[in-house]
Amino acid sequence: MTELLTRTERELLPRRARSLEDVTNTIGDISTEISQLIDKNGFATVLEIGCGFGRVLMQLQSMFGDRLHLTGLNRSPEEGDLSTALRVSEWFGMPISSLSPLPDYKFADASKRLPFGDSTFDLVYSNMTLCHVARKSAFIEEVYRVLKLGATAAIDSKFELPQLPAEVRLTFEVIANDRSFSFWEYFSDNIELQMMRAKKGRFLKIVRTSDCLSLGLQLEKSVLLSELRSDWYGCKSIFRPKVDST
Ligand SMILES: C[S@@+](CC[C@H](N)C(=O)[O-])C[C@H]1O[C@@H](n2cnc3c(N)ncnc32)[C@H](O)[C@@H]1O
Repeated sequence: MTELLTRTERELLPRRARSLEDVTNTIGDISTEISQLIDKNGFATVLEIGCGFGRVLMQLQSMFGDRLHLTGLNRSPEEGDLSTALRVSEWFGMPISSLSPLPDYKFADASKRLPFGDSTFDLVYSNMTLCHVARKSAFIEEVYRVLKLGATAAIDSKFELPQLPAEVRLTFEVIANDRSFSFWEYFSDNIELQMMRAKKGRFLKIVRTSDCLSLGLQLEKSVLLSELRSDWYGCKSIFRPKVDST
């Protein structure tokens, strides 16, 4: 008999197939937000960035059916596509045979250009993904671009990993005026980038209030933390303010 999941897929489940409950603990109650959007507009258009094996996509789609247009984005199909999501759902015993519609899948690097037009989504959410990306400022600017005006994004940010030594603890560090700033310090006055608390720590809420967002930063250096120590994860990104060349 062929196994539903390969051995590698089974090993990756804890890191690629977190549940809606896990995600609610890190980025807040997205299913209630979706429910409120549907109550208000009859329909909601939602994007998950870094959807992994798609467990949350399937859980949400089964809750809201055709009132929810859901898209999942991964860097490549090898990291999880619709076929993986269907098999993983079956593995977890989810009744998906009558699930209609199914979520859409797209593949792209979220720190370059997202394959969506401006103002496409009522809600964007992302769990355990931004911390792996080097160009974190571009990721945030792209999320802003694809949100509808007034819409919000809930991003599990892990801008600080308190368990790591001080020199690598900030995964988003800005060096300005010969000083080091954390993301939260540097953008503390920006009302579009809000620090929110969920059961398991804090996350980034992006609120789109204008045409576009430029964080005004350039990436100076990035370091893959797993290359420093095998039990560390994520990518440390060091930014400087962009120099205006005009
Ligand atoms: C650690 S997994 C998290 C999966 C899922 N969100 C969860 O919490 O279980 C990270 C996911 O982000 C995706 N990813 C990482 N870097 C990305 C990038 N630059 N652009 C798009 N997706 C990316 C990978 O494909 C992978 O599915």
